[in-house]
Amino acid sequence: MPTPRFLSGIQPSGELHLGNYFGAIREHVRLQDQGESYYFIANYHALTTVRDAATLRKNTFETAVTYLACGLDPIGPKNPSSKAVLFRQSDVPEVCELTWLLMTVTPMAMLENATSYKDKIERGLSPDAGLFTYPVLMAADILAQQSTIVPVGRDQRQHVEMTRDMAQKFNHQFGAPVFTIPELRLGEAPYVPGVDGAKMSKSYRNTIGIFDEGNTLKKTVMGIKTDAKTLEEPKDPENCTIFALYSLMATAAEQEELAAKYRAGGMGYGHAKQFLLEKIDATFGPMREKRKDWASRPKDVEEILQAGAVKARANARAVLDAARAACGIV
Ligand code: ADP
Ligand code: TRP
Repeated sequence: MPTPRFLSGIQPSGELHLGNYFGAIREHVRLQDQGESYYFIANYHALTTVRDAATLRKNTFETAVTYLACGLDPIGPKNPSSKAVLFRQSDVPEVCELTWLLMTVTPMAMLENATSYKDKIERGLSPDAGLFTYPVLMAADILAQQSTIVPVGRDQRQHVEMTRDMAQKFNHQFGAPVFTIPELRLGEAPYVPGVDGAKMSKSYRNTIGIFDEGNTLKKTVMGIKTDAKTLEEPKDPENCTIFALYSLMATAAEQEELAAKYRAGGMGYGHAKQFLLEKIDATFGPMREKRKDWASRPKDVEEILQAGAVKARANARAVLDAARAACGIV
């Protein structure tokens, strides 16, 4: 079997949270041992929501630091033989040209059907062309690296399916196998609830930050919504956000132990929150330290991103040249 090539991206559109960690980053880090891994910071995509240069720059840096603190081991001048490649989307401007080529084979109806776009319309907001064509840029990201597997959360499934459609359509239209058709891979924890019980998402302001600590973290965890059962009453672990979050980090035995305490009664939600807090500290404590270290070395981070860009850009150039040739652009 040929070596798989994984590709995924994260938008630097706000502080990364546990949903991003369990739904995306943890999976990305694991996959670096299973094939070639390309991960990037989707700063062009973030422009559809972030409209402040300093914020975008800061978030872009923080996203790179997050990957590094969470254990990604990307190539760089100090680590030239590593498997993972970490880069900034905007350092591969070829994806913008590729987006145009793909747009010419993308039906309007396909984009009108995209949930990211439909959601915004339903909420009464007026979408711009950037948001409307967002899935085409995402397809260009995926196809430019000839990735075979795209590991993302469930919310991105439709975008990967659209990518496959666009690639097949282009290949068929121009009679040349220019694009590799990628497969979707859903992570092990594809759904992480937020403190209000809805999907954890920065747009819902219900997140727990990956590097939150101390009082900030405590306040957030203590604010997790629960039902109104008294301390004495037996509780249902299956329908509890605290338990769901705890389970993401606990062993099977630990989960069973806490579930038994829920069912027995006599344990308040405050206690369960305390267990969750301890679990978060134990899981993310070491990463917090690493984050502080990387954040103090912006030059090293930049070197890694530049080294990643060289590799990613070479792949994109080759794919773009083939796509241009196939459709008669010389
Ligand atoms: P947000 O919803 O906060 O804007 P993004 O859309 O930027 O997050 O998601 C970045 C990555 O993290 C994607 O791969 C997405 O599937 C994953 N992800 C985000 N939120 C969750 C969640 N609550 N559960 C699982 N995965 C998530
Ligand atoms: N749209 C993705 C998100 O919001 C980010 C992204 C952009 C991406 N390009 C991609 C993910 C290519 C995977 C592959 O999460």
